[in-house]
Amino acid sequence: MITQGPSAGSGHVSGPYKIIQVGLGQWGVSWGTKVVPSLGDVEVVGWVDRSEQARTAFRDLTGVAESSLHGTLTEALAANPDCRIVLAPVAWPAHYAVAQEALAAGCHLLLEKPLTVDAGQAAELAELAEARGVVFAIDQNYRWGAAVPVVRESIRSGRLGRLRSVSVRWHRDHGGVRSHALIELAIHHLDLARHLFDANGRSVTCVPHTPLADRLDPTTGADALITLESGLVINYRLSTDGTGPTTGWPGRWTISGDGALLTWGEDTFDGEPDAQCVTLTAPDGMITRLPVPERTGPGDRAGVLREFLDAADGRGTPTSPAADNRHSVALLDALLTSAASGRTESVAGSRS
Ligand SMILES: NC(=O)c1ccc[n+]([C@@H]2O[C@H](COP(=O)([O-])OP(=O)(O)OC[C@H]3O[C@@H](n4cnc5c(N)ncnc54)[C@H](O)[C@@H]3O)[C@@H](O)[C@H]2O)c1
Repeated sequence: MITQGPSAGSGHVSGPYKIIQVGLGQWGVSWGTKVVPSLGDVEVVGWVDRSEQARTAFRDLTGVAESSLHGTLTEALAANPDCRIVLAPVAWPAHYAVAQEALAAGCHLLLEKPLTVDAGQAAELAELAEARGVVFAIDQNYRWGAAVPVVRESIRSGRLGRLRSVSVRWHRDHGGVRSHALIELAIHHLDLARHLFDANGRSVTCVPHTPLADRLDPTTGADALITLESGLVINYRLSTDGTGPTTGWPGRWTISGDGALLTWGEDTFDGEPDAQCVTLTAPDGMITRLPVPERTGPGDRAGVLREFLDAADGRGTPTSPAADNRHSVALLDALLTSAASGRTESVAGSRS
C-alpha cells in the first residue's frame, strides 16, 4: 500500500546536499567517516541508529552534536523537515521498513544491498519510489570494479563466441560474512551475473553447506546452479570455511565460449588476490591478459553516492536503480528458497 508522506511529488534536490544517514554499525561508520566526507558537497544533518550503544560510540568517535543523533528515522525526519535525501547502510532485516518510511516521506534513497530478501517487497518498494517521483538506488558497489566493463564488453562484443558454461567461485575465511554468507554476499554475485550477461534469472537449485530449516537461517556457504532467462547456466560456489585459495570479493569467474575462455579475478593462498585480472585463453591455449583501465573520479561507494546524488539532482541515472535491482533480489529470493526447500525454484516474474 502506498501511504502519503509530508512531501509528496518531490522533484529534484540541489547541492550542497543535506542528508540523513540511517545505520551506524561497522559499515555505516565507514560510510559516515570515509565515504561521505570524500565527496566534499554532502552534509549529514541527522545520524540514526536504533542502538544507543552505536550512537554513543559514533558520537565519541566523531564528535558529532548530540542533537543530530536519533533513534529512529521518524525522529530524524521530524527534526530536519527540509531534508529530502536518505542514505541507509542499515542492517538488512530493517531495509524494508526503513525504505518504506523514507520513500513514503518523499525522500530520495540510497540503500545498502540487499534491497530486501523478498521479490514482492522489492517490487513494491520500487513502485513506491516511482509513484513518489524519487530516486531509489541500491549500493551494489561491485559493479564499480574496473574489470567489470572489460568483462562485460568481451561478452557483448562476441569475442568469446557462443557462451557454453560459466563458473563463479568465492572463497574467503571471513568471520564477518560467515553467519549469513548467502544474504550478505550472494546478492553481489547474482547482480553481477545479471549485469555481465544482460539477462534476468529463470531458476535456481541451491544446496547449502549446512542444512536450513528456514530460508533466512544462517549458513556458511552453498553450491548452486543458476539458470538465466537466456538459458545460460552458472555454476556458483560460495564458501567461508574449509581450506582453499582466497578469491577477490567479486569472486573468480570462468566464462567459456566457443571462441575463447575468459577468466576474471585471481585466487591465491598468499596475499590479496588481484580482482582486476582478466585473461583470455584462445582454443589453442594461448593466454592474453586484457588491459583494465583504472576508473577516474570517485570510485566504488563514493562513485555510487556521486551517481545517486547526480540523479537526485536531475542528472543521469544511479548505478543500480531499485527498479532494476529488484530482479537481482528475485534471484536471491529463489536462491534462499531453494536452499531451504531442496527444490529447483523459479525466479519470480521470469519468462520461462
Ligand atoms: N556493499 C558492500 O560491499 C557491503 C559491505 C558490508 C556491509 N554491507 C551492507 O551494509 C548494511 C550494514 O552493514 P553492517 O555490517 O554495518 O550491519 P549491522 O548488522 O552491524 O547493522 C548496522 C546497524 O543497523 C542498526 N539498525 C538495525 N535496525 C535498525 C532500524 N530499524 N533503525 C535504525 N537502525 C537500525 C543496528 O543497530 C546496527 O548498528 C547491510 O545491509 C550490509 O549488507 C554492504
